[in-house]
Amino acid sequence: MYVCMCFGVCDREIRSCIANGARTVDEVGEATDAGTGCGGCHEHIDALLAASHACSDLAELPPTA
Ligand code: FES
Repeated sequence: MYVCMCFGVCDREIRSCIANGARTVDEVGEATDAGTGCGGCHEHIDALLAASHACSDLAELPPTA
C-alpha cells in the first residue's frame, strides 16, 4: 500500500527503513524521500513509527510469571 503518493513509497519500504534504524519522519524522509514533498503522508509515517516503537517497547519488557 502506498503511503507517500508524491514519491510512490509504500508501507513495506517505510517499515524496512524503520527496522534499519529510522526513528523520525525526517529520518524516514532522508532514507526514502517519503514525506519530503507535500507532507500529506506525515501522519501515516508517524503511525508506522509509533506502531514499530510500541512493538519494540513490548519486546523490551521483562517476562511475566
Ligand atoms: S504524499 Fe508524501 S510527501 Fe506528499
